[in-house]
Amino acid sequence: MSFNIAIDGPAGAGKSTIAKKLAKKISFIYVDTGAMYRAMGYYFLQHGIKAEEEEKIKEVCDDISVALAYENGVQKVLLNGEDKIRQEEVGNMASATSGYGFVRAKLLSLQQDMAAQHNVIMDGRDIGTCVLPNAQLKIFLTASVEVRAKRRYDELVAKGEQCDLAEIEKDISERDYRDMHREIAPLKAAEDAVMLDSSDLNIDEVVEAIYEQAKKAGLDA
Ligand code: DC
Repeated sequence: MSFNIAIDGPAGAGKSTIAKKLAKKISFIYVDTGAMYRAMGYYFLQHGIKAEEEEKIKEVCDDISVALAYENGVQKVLLNGEDKIRQEEVGNMASATSGYGFVRAKLLSLQQDMAAQHNVIMDGRDIGTCVLPNAQLKIFLTASVEVRAKRRYDELVAKGEQCDLAEIEKDISERDYRDMHREIAPLKAAEDAVMLDSSDLNIDEVVEAIYEQAKKAGLDA
């Protein structure tokens, strides 16, 4: 049986950086479910579809082929062959359209199949509550909005992108609200999740904390 670690939490809490690092350390596969919703969001944006156009989104859902591929252990989400999903605009579109049940249903089995076949660290919003309710370890990773906005800002600046800290903070707050208040699979901690606040911890400290929890949960690595 595979060993599954679920990491949920709001945008910018550090989930993907930490999950990637821990996956490398314990030789697990890292599954970034946000990237899958982003791939869908990117497709809608490319085709001029607005988030409110539910019927159109439903129609094109069948045309979208999302697949996971791994290059040197790094996940690539292949969306009809493309992989350009990191912009804020795409994240916002992903958040807005991930509230539709048919969008979620399209990705759910892909996520569950990966976890059934492999030892995975999977991050997202609903992994511990909906996707992998039987995961051996569930983490809910948070950090204050200010800390999360500053981290995103630093990331974008490092990439040479122009950005505004106040705008990023506003975007993150809106995204949190939408992700937590949607009807289907909202962002929330599973009852049996371990809560971890990363506001005052560095990446390695969080990785170590989750690693210790995983050993407690029976990980033999
Ligand atoms: O983790 P991220 O910022 O890449 O995710 C982008 C959006 O996708 C997020 O705001 C909400 C949605 N999402 C989701 O609804 N469920 C998941 N398991 C992962 C992401």
